[in-house]
Amino acid sequence: MDGSRTDDTRKAHLEIGGESYDLPIHSPSEGPDVVDIRKLYAQAGVFTYDPGFTSTASCDSAITYIDGDAGVLLHRGYPIDQLAQKSHYLEVCYLLLYGELPTGAQLEDFTQRVTMHTMLHEQMHYFFRGFRRDAHPMAIMVGVVGAMAAFYHDSTDINDPWQREVASIRMIAKMPTIAAMAYKYSIGQPFVYPQNDLDYASNFLQMCFSVPSAQYQVDPILARAMDRIFTLHADHEQNASTSTVRLASSSGANPFACIAAGIACLWGPAHGGANQACLEMLREIGTVDRIPEFIARAKDKNDPFRLMGFGHRVYKNFDPRATVMKESADEVLDLLGVEDNDTLKVAKELEKQALDDPYFAEKKLFPNVDFYSGIILEAMGFPTSMFTPIFALSRTVGWISQWKEQLSDPAMKIGRPRQLYTGPSQRDYVDVENR
Ligand code: SDX
Repeated sequence: MDGSRTDDTRKAHLEIGGESYDLPIHSPSEGPDVVDIRKLYAQAGVFTYDPGFTSTASCDSAITYIDGDAGVLLHRGYPIDQLAQKSHYLEVCYLLLYGELPTGAQLEDFTQRVTMHTMLHEQMHYFFRGFRRDAHPMAIMVGVVGAMAAFYHDSTDINDPWQREVASIRMIAKMPTIAAMAYKYSIGQPFVYPQNDLDYASNFLQMCFSVPSAQYQVDPILARAMDRIFTLHADHEQNASTSTVRLASSSGANPFACIAAGIACLWGPAHGGANQACLEMLREIGTVDRIPEFIARAKDKNDPFRLMGFGHRVYKNFDPRATVMKESADEVLDLLGVEDNDTLKVAKELEKQALDDPYFAEKKLFPNVDFYSGIILEAMGFPTSMFTPIFALSRTVGWISQWKEQLSDPAMKIGRPRQLYTGPSQRDYVDVENR
């Protein structure tokens, strides 16, 4: 930990059943103070109650800070819009992993280490072949990443700093290869090997779109847009999938198992699966004249329908990633000469009408990172089923950085929440003939 947490002498005063308790308050380097309840149950015999963790800090972290009211996202203190404009994904990976922007030499060494790990164990090709061709690529990614523990057993000892480092580089390096292989497998095309002379994003694109009979020519602007999408998804504090990785890691599970758990959680439509669900929603809306019908459904308490790509647990202002993504959407579609993209027209008009609607204003619902990303990915040639695998590929560095940070925290304990029990009190067994 970088020790930027300041320990206050201030206390939170709590009175329960005539007894009073003083709970320590800790102040962060940025954001709200926290009330330390770690000794509450031992002292007062009560639990706190916070399903969904809306008011709960689960850990100390120095990696990412989000100010949801101001629409600010910082990675090790650097604003996401500056990183998206001026940096690139592997440099952001270095920043997230090691805490500082690299020197030229450090970046060159890191890039070389990642590049030399992009190939997947050849035996894993047979693992892919056990899936049906129509398997969702996320199902394949969960299985393949979990199975990496069987193929890369020499980097599973979490108590060995060197093995933790190797596992980190392997995960960042191999996720594009695994995602591309899942895509190729689903369309019945042969796997394409990584090319070490290409940058990270260009390599991913060529592994997805090359075939043995024709090498894909990577357009530098598309590669830049792909790289920016990776950067915008790299990390995001203690979101559901990152918290899943941390909880899995707290039991001492190996890194591949922890990342596979994160991928599984990300798949949900309330989380990373929203990018696929959002594009499918925009297609279902189809034309701008049908937008009011869907906005009405989103507001109807009796209708489970929600605007996918809208709303966020933390952002009660614009998601700064969505702003950058929207700019990229215009750029990529212009480049590809996709003028009258109905989906983009519907997205922009839906955003406008929703933001003009009191319901969304009152509930502070704004477009999130998933609202525009699918439009870019579709224009680049990806099917909707590849949207969440690309999110998972991008977020792997965030999961790994948080995993490493947790393992280096001396205060780390196995995560084991309690509950508010609502079931029956103790009762005796009744034989079946007497029921
Ligand atoms: C990601 O945590 C992260 O950081 C995640 C992420 C990351 O980078 O890791 O940012 C990535 O997951 C982005 C979110 C992608 N999901 C979606 O776009 C799915 C649609 N959004 C919602 O399901 C919802 O907004 C969540 C899940 C994102 C947030 O849900 P919360 O914080 O639990 O909020 P809530 O469900 O309690 O909603 C508050 C109110 C409710 O109305 P009331 O019950 O108070 O009357 O707002 C309403 C909700 O009904 N609401 C919506 C809505 N989202 C919330 N109404 C219509 N459409 C929506 N999209």
